[in-house]
Amino acid sequence: MSSVRPAIGLDFGTSTTLVASPSGVVPIGEVSAWMPSLVGYDDEGQVVVGELAQDVPDEQMVRSIKRLITDGRSVVRLQTPTGLRDVPADDLIVKMLQEAATRSAASGQDMTGPHPVRLGCPAMWDGKQRRRLVELARRAGLPVTLANIVDEPVAAGIAWLAGRKPDSSAPMRVVVFDMGGGTLDIAVLDVRGSQHRDVSVLAAIGVAEAGDTLDDAITEDMEYVLAAAGVDIDSLERPRRARARLAYAARAAKIGLSTETEVDVKLSRREFGISSVVYRRSYLDQAFAPQMDRAEQYVAAALRAAHLAEMVSGSVTDILRMETDELTEKVDVVVLSGGMSQIPYVAQRMAELFPAWTRVEMACEPSDNAVALGLAKAGHYGRINMYRPAFDILLEWDSKRETRKIYEAYTPLIEGRQIARGGSDLRFVRTGQELSLPDGGSGKLRLVSHSGEKVRASLAGTSLEGFRVALSEQKFEFSIYPNGRLRLTDADATYDGHIEDWHALQDTAQ
Ligand SMILES: Nc1ncnc2c1ncn2[C@@H]1O[C@H](COP(=O)(O)OP(=O)(O)OP(=O)(O)O)[C@@H](O)[C@H]1O
Ligand SMILES: [Mg+2]
Repeated sequence: MSSVRPAIGLDFGTSTTLVASPSGVVPIGEVSAWMPSLVGYDDEGQVVVGELAQDVPDEQMVRSIKRLITDGRSVVRLQTPTGLRDVPADDLIVKMLQEAATRSAASGQDMTGPHPVRLGCPAMWDGKQRRRLVELARRAGLPVTLANIVDEPVAAGIAWLAGRKPDSSAPMRVVVFDMGGGTLDIAVLDVRGSQHRDVSVLAAIGVAEAGDTLDDAITEDMEYVLAAAGVDIDSLERPRRARARLAYAARAAKIGLSTETEVDVKLSRREFGISSVVYRRSYLDQAFAPQMDRAEQYVAAALRAAHLAEMVSGSVTDILRMETDELTEKVDVVVLSGGMSQIPYVAQRMAELFPAWTRVEMACEPSDNAVALGLAKAGHYGRINMYRPAFDILLEWDSKRETRKIYEAYTPLIEGRQIARGGSDLRFVRTGQELSLPDGGSGKLRLVSHSGEKVRASLAGTSLEGFRVALSEQKFEFSIYPNGRLRLTDADATYDGHIEDWHALQDTAQ
């Protein structure tokens, strides 16, 4: 278990940034509890963050700054009083995090103080992206370590768990569907223990296709609705500006249609020639349908990966061939989180995808608070991420003067595309050639945990920690299978083993 001191959760989202303590959301916004994740330059060249950035022209600000980490970009091109500039993305992110910390302190929660701060990150982020966030948080004065970074869908799952009374101690299978502004994160969780306090991530995948994508689809669809009303955007005086206005209207219509069945989209008569147009929920559902089709494919891929993680017997090929209804049948609950999950069509599609006995529930109300609340409470829950284990496996020799990282923490053991492609030999593997190992001599294995949880693993019946390896460039091969099985071949022999916690799970998984 991690620390149980009261923690502060910081959900640095693509569209909104939110802070929570274990007792609830800490307001950091001027209009809502959340602060818009916007940052840019005002006309004087000052950096503006949050609501203030809303008022500067689009070319002077970044709308989805978190995406720069997802995309591995280091600079962003912005208009400033001295002309176009390539601004270091990291500097802007630090400003955002600092602003969140300042506002949180003003609301009575000091994030630079003694309380641990937990940050969320998309399930798809690898070790490099997670370390980048840790470094930026530290630059912003927040005492964060890799162990304080929690996958967003896991945090959302914890928010759901924390808001209910366990009705039994039977293990539960939970799918978290977290659709935010920039990413869709899906996690398959195995929840067990007397208070349902042990949460294992069997699979977690993410794609950069969420609210922003739907906004674009609605904007395009609105153009057709306008065309049907006799307005051709390209024939207007300023088509670019008109489209930007339409994009703004699309975002508002999307939110309105979560509670209304139709909205009146107000337009400037001077600009569009008409003063309003009706946009219906049924149009939205239709524009959203192809994206939800793809989302369902990702849900199926996550469930397939979860089956691989639990595989004790049977063949990989069988799992890859499983039909959707076989994949969905053991799921007890689908937990919806993220702002986009407020769209009724999301719950409708999930209810159709899963069998009648699977409950579809919101992580909390409103669903976009879930990640921050779950982060604040994550300390009470034990977490193992079996999909991207939070430990390094190192090989050291020559009195530790030589070190190779066989497995780097948070690397997915299998990639989603490997599952899609099929193939019966799904595993993470490193060879002596890839690691440039010498021939001759011996080294030792070492396990370094980054999660704060103790990890135990064994090879040939003894501990992996300190295991002696006969070095060989050609023969060395180390494999980690998605079900926690290990296999090492060195100059002398082949050894089988496993990561202990996987097996603890499987003893009762059947
Ligand atoms: N009531 C609503 N109905 C429909 N969509 C909504 C509603 N409220 C918010 N959204 C949409 O949800 C998205 C933001 O959700 P959320 O705040 O969970 O994302 P985020 O955490 O900022 O992003 P991410 O998790 O992708 O990094 C935006 O696309 C926003 O337009
Ligand atoms: Mg989010």
